[in-house]
Amino acid sequence: MTIAVPHVERSDRLATSRANIALALAEARARTLQLIETVSEADLRTQHDPLMGPILWDLGHIGHFEALWLDRNLDGNVEFVEMPGMYNPFEHPRRVRGALPLPTLAGTLESMAEIRERVLERLEHIDLESADPLLRHGYVYQMVLQHEYQHNETMLQTLQLKTGVPYSPLVRRAQPARRVVLGDEALRVDVGRAFVGTDDRLNAYDNERPRFAVEVAPYWIDRTPVTNEQYLAFIGDGGYQRHELWSDAGRAWLDESKAEAPRYWWHEDGVWLRRSMDHVGRPDPASPVIHVCYHEAEAFARWAGKRLPTETEWEVAASWDASEQQSREFPWGDVRPNASDANLDQLGFDVVPVGAYEKNVSPLGCYGMLGDVWEWTSTDFKGYAGFTAFPYAEYSQVFFGTEYKVLRGGSWATRPGAIRSTFRNWDYPIRRQIFSGFRCARDD
Ligand code: AVJ
Ligand code: FE
Repeated sequence: MTIAVPHVERSDRLATSRANIALALAEARARTLQLIETVSEADLRTQHDPLMGPILWDLGHIGHFEALWLDRNLDGNVEFVEMPGMYNPFEHPRRVRGALPLPTLAGTLESMAEIRERVLERLEHIDLESADPLLRHGYVYQMVLQHEYQHNETMLQTLQLKTGVPYSPLVRRAQPARRVVLGDEALRVDVGRAFVGTDDRLNAYDNERPRFAVEVAPYWIDRTPVTNEQYLAFIGDGGYQRHELWSDAGRAWLDESKAEAPRYWWHEDGVWLRRSMDHVGRPDPASPVIHVCYHEAEAFARWAGKRLPTETEWEVAASWDASEQQSREFPWGDVRPNASDANLDQLGFDVVPVGAYEKNVSPLGCYGMLGDVWEWTSTDFKGYAGFTAFPYAEYSQVFFGTEYKVLRGGSWATRPGAIRSTFRNWDYPIRRQIFSGFRCARDD
């Protein structure tokens, strides 16, 4: 059952000003460049793996996407497919991008800077009070910012799987020392009717809209993502060999991949080791398992006598405040995450023990809903009832169907501006170069 509700604008977002937009654009660019500071030009140009294009392509693509939306498209409705050839993702799938005649790093940075100059000039004359939803309160600027943030995460996936010398970041932040022991606890959610999705027209993508009511059957959900300790027990119990735990598609993936553990794990002298960027060590038992695909998540859940949550169950657990009968934009409230809220912002370069960020708890009592690992849900990526593509169908709509599963919550590699309780990510169920983990649920 779905009921439409009136659109509510969040007041803190109305503070959009030219100055704030310019600052945010500069900040996003500084962070993009910080990421590649320690990477050689040869490494930026290399196609390290068929799954990911060269980082040099991401850089040029970030610039051209900005030129398209913050310059060319401001004059009228230019289609996304008109984005100039080399940096069009549909014309050039990731596995072939290494063969493109990509300009030098200096040339790429120069064109990014030129584009930015033009964009800032045009920004001076934009009507932020316009009735056009593309411009209103700077929506299109927020969209372009999020695009750059998302490509930063793509670049980190490439840096994690790069060949040769492991990536060593320039700046790494200290993580909280807090280690609480959060057991293998589930909580019962019995909220009746709740709201999910959003009517936000400033930050949310089209696929997060509209906000709608759902009748939620009671369910149980784990208070934390599945940890390495739990996942090691699954491996130790023959999880990867016990075919009855895997779906048909999961078994096919297992046969093909010959996987025996998460990606970036290996077995040495009787112990499992794992790598995150330039750090190698034993998997921390208290940290969430990361770099698992949907099939692995599903097999684990079956082994544990559980299942994956639907994306609605996930969102209710992350955001529903039953006493206020309201959803929160973030588990802790409506204030955007900062460095002390969650393991986000691509500065930690790894997961941390569950519960390390004490504020990162939802009203219903779930920890770590945002940050550390993207969480697989059992839901296929589709539009909500009432979905309308805006402003370009190639962001979401062309991916709707049964091929992709929804992931929620962001990872350590996600910038705070590209995550919220309603944010929907999606990928193929076989993918695990993404920063993905999961938590389990079960029926009442
Ligand atoms: C939302 C992460 C699936 O990388 O394909 C970047 C984000 N869209 N440029 C992707 C995106 C256009 C997208 N994901
Ligand atoms: Fe893109």
